[in-house]
Amino acid sequence: MMLKIPDVLDGEGVARVRAILDKAEWVDGNVTSGVQSGIVKDNLQLPEMGDAAQAAGKLVLEALGRSPLFMAAALPHKLYPPLFNRYAGGGHFGDHIDNAIRIRRGSDYRVRSDLSATLFLADPDSYDGGGLVVEGMVGEPGIKLPAGHLILYPATTVHRVLPVTRGARIASFFWIQSMVRDLGERSLLLDLDRTVQNMVAKIGNDDADVVRLTGLYHNLLRRWADV
Ligand code: NI
Repeated sequence: MMLKIPDVLDGEGVARVRAILDKAEWVDGNVTSGVQSGIVKDNLQLPEMGDAAQAAGKLVLEALGRSPLFMAAALPHKLYPPLFNRYAGGGHFGDHIDNAIRIRRGSDYRVRSDLSATLFLADPDSYDGGGLVVEGMVGEPGIKLPAGHLILYPATTVHRVLPVTRGARIASFFWIQSMVRDLGERSLLLDLDRTVQNMVAKIGNDDADVVRLTGLYHNLLRRWADV
């Protein structure tokens, strides 16, 4: 399941994050890589524990909390704090799979990556290349979304970022441990949740079948969720 989530950040939110990033110092992106992915990666990142990543990450986390679609789709249990990357001058990230377990440096905070997310922070017209290509998806140039939009995809998939041949592709990326580990179960819950929301919009939330379907959603979530 790949899901585009529009307007996680509005224009003002993007500008606030970019104001932090644009004056920050970037370092070689291999600081967060595993051995295999380190070989294929050519980009820059903000130092994870630096003030800029912390401040910008806080803004991203707050925005995610305000996105009902993100919450419904990811059913987040734990989130690895948002990181930031920058691709320019041919920078790219070849085929790789994200590490299954992310451990926050210097702590015992660990997150199982069920879902990977990219929040785009540059206007797609401001750079060439840089599309995200996920296994199973057809064709290049890959996914490039407007600034403030997010793509959510299973962390189990091989994926890559195509070379950026003009301008700079700036994004936030992070991983989510979902309350519902299984992709199929999570997809069913999202489908049911959206259907119920649509029914509520059409016939209200006091209809007996809406009440029952809402109950079904919660009873399935109770059955499948680990918290
Ligand atoms: Ni990746």
